[in-house]
Amino acid sequence: MTTPKRQTPPTTNKHLIRWVEKMAELCQPDSIHWVDGSDAENEILCQKLVAAGTFLKLNQELWPGCYYARSSPNDVARVEDRTFICSHSKDNAGPTNNWEEPVQMRRKMKQKFRGSMRGRTMYVLAFSMGPVGSPMSQIGVQLTDSAYVVVSMRIMARIGLPVFAEIDRDLKRVVPCMHTVGAPLAPGQADVPWPCNDEKYIVHFPETREIWSYGSGYGGNALLGKKCFALRIASNIARDEGWMAEHMLILGVEDPHGEKTYVAAAFPSACGKTNFAMLIPPAGFDGWRVWTVGDDIAWIKPDATGQLRAINPEAGFFGVAPGTGASTNPNAMAALARNTIFTNVALTPEGGVWWEGMTDTPPAECLDWRGERWTPEIGKETGRPAAHPNGRFTAPARQCPSIDPDWENPAGVPISAFIFGGRRAHTMPLVYQSFNWSSGVYIGATVGSETTAAAGGAIGKVRRDPMAMLPFCGYHMADYFRHWIKMQRQLDTTPRIFHVNWFRKDKHGKFLWPGFSQNMRVLRWIVDRVHGRALGKETPIGWTPRYQDIHWEGLPFAEKTFEELQEVDRAHWKREVMGHEELFLDLHDHLPPEMIYERELLICRL
Ligand code: GTP
Ligand code: SPV
Ligand code: MN
Repeated sequence: MTTPKRQTPPTTNKHLIRWVEKMAELCQPDSIHWVDGSDAENEILCQKLVAAGTFLKLNQELWPGCYYARSSPNDVARVEDRTFICSHSKDNAGPTNNWEEPVQMRRKMKQKFRGSMRGRTMYVLAFSMGPVGSPMSQIGVQLTDSAYVVVSMRIMARIGLPVFAEIDRDLKRVVPCMHTVGAPLAPGQADVPWPCNDEKYIVHFPETREIWSYGSGYGGNALLGKKCFALRIASNIARDEGWMAEHMLILGVEDPHGEKTYVAAAFPSACGKTNFAMLIPPAGFDGWRVWTVGDDIAWIKPDATGQLRAINPEAGFFGVAPGTGASTNPNAMAALARNTIFTNVALTPEGGVWWEGMTDTPPAECLDWRGERWTPEIGKETGRPAAHPNGRFTAPARQCPSIDPDWENPAGVPISAFIFGGRRAHTMPLVYQSFNWSSGVYIGATVGSETTAAAGGAIGKVRRDPMAMLPFCGYHMADYFRHWIKMQRQLDTTPRIFHVNWFRKDKHGKFLWPGFSQNMRVLRWIVDRVHGRALGKETPIGWTPRYQDIHWEGLPFAEKTFEELQEVDRAHWKREVMGHEELFLDLHDHLPPEMIYERELLICRL
């Protein structure tokens, strides 16, 4: 590709042009490319990535428009220990975030970015989180030296000329996002397929609304519109402006009469948001449909009537590949069938992709996510999966068969319920409902979940992950609880709040609940509760369905197993409350009184 050294910027915004020049001086790229977002440009960038060895074009008959990438083995997930919230005061970041003094960190970033793009192109990527022009949308400009990031962001967000035009209307503040893989090239130096740096920094300056990301090319570390902007920076904006930026899927349930009820659900990373958002009702649910609005992030705002409305700020799915198959999530399989980027999954000899759980029978032979030969036998011997557990697909949302007709409605969709959930082998029942808003906020605030491969670190340890936002809240977690409590005052109709757990196990370590499409049975109870149509039973932790309150048609499920699933064991719950206490001790000096009262009430009921 011939990149013009001096392209005419597609914007008249002088601040933006000057900032790009200043940053180019700092990073010293060989050239600057203003991304227009066109098909032709995308084609050229993909060709460039193929030439660089980053991309492999998949067999186009099997996988039209699809590309395959392998990251460096030290760049496969978010790096929470390298993620920083650099607010002026440490107290503002709170104990659950890494903090560095902003002036010092800014100096460090300048140092790291100096000359960091040598030998590379700096792309100027304007993106809108949310439909272009929606009053709920926000705009960012990411400067990046990664073409992989550009073509991925083209799927995940609205990018290019329409966004520059929106910037030129000059109505919104633009969030500057700096990104480099941190691998400058000396003259004549050959590139590697996945340039990155062992040292990584994912840095946020909440007061100035800036992001600086250094050293990684993967997912949430590098696609800065996603976790860095739409959650960490946006949670700060939302607090200041009275709305909510949440790690939540959004779905709509349509009943046989055509009544539609939207819910938003927060589950920690790799705990089932994508699957739940694309649920297909099982046998026994004739006339019911589930519509997908979003699978990862929700921006939620009260409208003039005091009703919460939500948009999905993203335009694509960056979904966990392993476990996604025709039997568990056919909608995701249809969404990723074309125009999709696959990263860190296995490559079949036919030029297709495969991962654990995609089909029941693995291919006889393939190359694993590291590019090494893999057979089911080798897998068994070495215990090594063919796909990395955090291998992902990047697919356009509009390709999902269950995508909601209103998914790009600039005014969002009305939210009637919030659902929190975690991955818990014990203690947590399949479903329960909070008594009210404040006890619901307590339930969200005390979510616990076993850690997954979505972030570096140990896997399978229960940790507190309040509202599934532990890695994503851009300010003091206890102030975030306070914001949740306060939100209710702006509302005329308050969404009901629920907690679910698809992952409870029996004493042999087997899942008690079949999950996936069968989660519809839980969802239906939730929707019926919202409309005051379903009964439940009061327990110390909240309202729970009795066996007869769940619609069982199409699933033979023993009442005894259901009782086991729903059991509220007082001894286990005492231990659970101790776990809440550990989090609260860390947060105590900012904790809203409601959290203390709710804990006391829970203890009394237990
Ligand atoms: P992020 O994209 O990391 O935020 O994650 P996510 O919450 O969207 O996770 P996703 O839906 O991709 O789920 C990841 C894992 O959860 C996969 O391994 C799935 O197989 C598993 N999973 C999802 N739903 C269920 C369920 O109902 N039951 C069980 N047992 N596993 C599930
Ligand atoms: C998550 O980890 O919650 C994700 C993937 O959704 S990433 O975009 O890498 O954060
Ligand atoms: Mn996520």
